[in-house]
Amino acid sequence: MTETILVTGGAGYVGSHVCKALAVAGFKPVTYDNLFRGHKELVKWGPLEVGDVCDTEKLQAVITRHKPSAVMHFAALTLVGESVAQPGLYHHNNGDGTQSLLTAMQRCGVNRIVVSGTCAVYGIPQKMPIDENTPIGPINPYGHSKLAMENHVHAAATKGELSSVVLRYFNAAGADPEGETGEWHEPETHLIPNVLRAAAGIGEPLRLFGTDYPTPDGTCIRDYIHVCDIAAAHVAALSHLNGPPKGHVFNLGSGTGFSVRQVIDTARAVTGRDIAFSVEPRRDGDPAILVADSTRIQNDLQWKPMRSGLPEQIGDAWRWVQKQPR
Ligand SMILES: NC(=O)c1ccc[n+]([C@@H]2O[C@H](COP(=O)([O-])OP(=O)(O)OC[C@H]3O[C@@H](n4cnc5c(N)ncnc54)[C@H](O)[C@@H]3O)[C@@H](O)[C@H]2O)c1
Repeated sequence: MTETILVTGGAGYVGSHVCKALAVAGFKPVTYDNLFRGHKELVKWGPLEVGDVCDTEKLQAVITRHKPSAVMHFAALTLVGESVAQPGLYHHNNGDGTQSLLTAMQRCGVNRIVVSGTCAVYGIPQKMPIDENTPIGPINPYGHSKLAMENHVHAAATKGELSSVVLRYFNAAGADPEGETGEWHEPETHLIPNVLRAAAGIGEPLRLFGTDYPTPDGTCIRDYIHVCDIAAAHVAALSHLNGPPKGHVFNLGSGTGFSVRQVIDTARAVTGRDIAFSVEPRRDGDPAILVADSTRIQNDLQWKPMRSGLPEQIGDAWRWVQKQPR
């Protein structure tokens, strides 16, 4: 019989790619999303249940109806600036929302979960690359709310109620190579889609924040990981949930950092377009370099990045941007 996986936030960017990967691997993904930031058009690989993760009763009804063997939890608000303006909203949606999900799962006897963590829980680390033993220290309410999410999951796993995998992604990028889903955020705050929108002549003019960082070209360096590599890690994580209840944490990055200027130069080469930008001062709280050490997941889950070269990520994202109606 086909195994069902409940995917919270499956109408969003990462969640929709994971739904496709689950379907390709023979699972039935059931999306649970309030569509606040997601899009029903991206729910293509299984049913959509519209609801909020803070609504425990509704979640219970959906779990009872679909009988998932495990849950994948992507539903969260993700905008750092918005979290600074509305910290209570982030604490409630991302922290309390996770506790509500865990309560519904426990009431229904579902005890396997994979959750979207983030490198934002590390704040501004002193040492690169970042492994899972790097001290935790979020520097904004978004990072704190995602840490609260992890803590709820960890507490349940420690009590023996849950088998859990937390995947702390670095910068998700790219799009489905077959063009069936991609990044669709409003507003868009991520570098690669904004560079490509500028290349396509849509959206806001491109702004580059800070050219005086202690990096080879003065701009910030980040670890971009293809969203399909993230999706593959989620499918691999499912098999890690078998066995006695336990909590696992893995960093998920390509292990290679690229600067903002390298991203823009690669986008110029991939698109064949000139990409204009203005130089602005540094933004508060942007570390110079964030690069993952993903050795643990490579060893324990036999996962490795397959499509995370910069030209592939930008090429897939470019095809997606070009397909969108203007
Ligand atoms: N995109 C990245 O680079 C990145 C990096 C690190 C971690 N993450 C994490 O990955 C997850 C997915 O990120 P994304 O970029 O796909 O975001 P997204 O905004 O595209 O998707 C999130 C989805 O969750 C839904 N949602 C939000 N709050 C909800 C609620 N209370 N109830 C039901 N649905 C709700 C939204 O409608 C949306 O469809 C998030 O948990 C985020 O913190 C993303």
